[in-house]
Amino acid sequence: MVPMKVALVGTGLIGLGWAVVFARAGHQVALYDADSDQAESALRRIREILPELARLGLIDKDDDPAGRMMLCDSLEAALAGAGYVQESGPERLAVKRAIFADLDRLAEPSAAIATSSSGIRMGAIADGLEGRSRCLVAHPANPPYLLPIVEVVPAAWTAPEVVRRVRAFLDDAGQVTVLLNKEVDGFVLNRLQGALLHEAFRLVEDGVATVDDVDKTVREGLGLRWSFMGPFETIDLNAPEGVADYVDRLGQMYLDFALQRGAPEPWPPALVETVERQRRALLSDADLPKRMAWRDRRLMALAVHKAQADEGPGS
Ligand SMILES: NC(=O)c1ccc[n+]([C@@H]2O[C@H](COP(=O)([O-])OP(=O)(O)OC[C@H]3O[C@@H](n4cnc5c(N)ncnc54)[C@H](O)[C@@H]3O)[C@@H](O)[C@H]2O)c1
Repeated sequence: MVPMKVALVGTGLIGLGWAVVFARAGHQVALYDADSDQAESALRRIREILPELARLGLIDKDDDPAGRMMLCDSLEAALAGAGYVQESGPERLAVKRAIFADLDRLAEPSAAIATSSSGIRMGAIADGLEGRSRCLVAHPANPPYLLPIVEVVPAAWTAPEVVRRVRAFLDDAGQVTVLLNKEVDGFVLNRLQGALLHEAFRLVEDGVATVDDVDKTVREGLGLRWSFMGPFETIDLNAPEGVADYVDRLGQMYLDFALQRGAPEPWPPALVETVERQRRALLSDADLPKRMAWRDRRLMALAVHKAQADEGPGS
């Protein structure tokens, strides 16, 4: 793809991750944040991340993606000449609506404008804007330069040409896009994560298992498969004759679990406290940043493994 200028609006955790993705792909990246200290600290963090990626061969050692990044002190400067805009501001509808009103007013007429929102529909963010047909959700996972998935979620009025253009752009930048056929709160990723979290909290609440044992079950079991296959492929391979055979054998059991649980309930504060206490006993507040860096290093190692081991569906 021809390199272009990309504008990143909001340079917190996700904005800085996008900067790595787009600059790694050869694009010019303009970073703007309402808090200029935040933009500067994002750039410092990016300068720590890039050498780690280069050391593992996840970016070209001779390339300098940071050299394609520029800090902008105004939204106008960031947007001027940008063909793609990625908004990564706070996850609040009113804030996103205000930012999108500015983006639609100031961005180049041909620019596509995406939000990183974790669950707010574009139908609610850009409704009423003149340029709403160029707006859509492009929801990444954290950090986007290590987890390639991007959920592309157009509103009913997003132009199909914009959807095609944005998917091609993101796929070309090394991400893996999935297109949602309709808008739904939370999209696919967080709805799946939410379903698992509901059950995890309930298992702890019922005294069935500790927080660590629930985590261990995912870490040493389900999660090992999940790094290269999803739940449907999992069940397809877990019965001799595939999905229908699996459902025949175990469908009733899963229905019983769902019926036993009944309607979901809020996680009560006392339960959240229990989970928090158990986690803090395993990992102190002070060690959280170290452990986040550890997580990113494990993800980098996994990305290296997956890049080497990627094989087709029938292999
Ligand atoms: N953290 C995650 O795991 C994750 C994953 C996927 C998507 N997201 C989504 O990405 C978005 C950003 O999340 P984050 O975790 O990076 O949050 P964050 O709090 O780290 O960053 C938000 C940034 O937006 C800036 N900001 C606030 N108002 C602004 C404005 N008017 N213009 C420009 N910048 C402004 C803030 O100064 C801050 O630096 C959210 O919509 C979030 O739901 C987060």
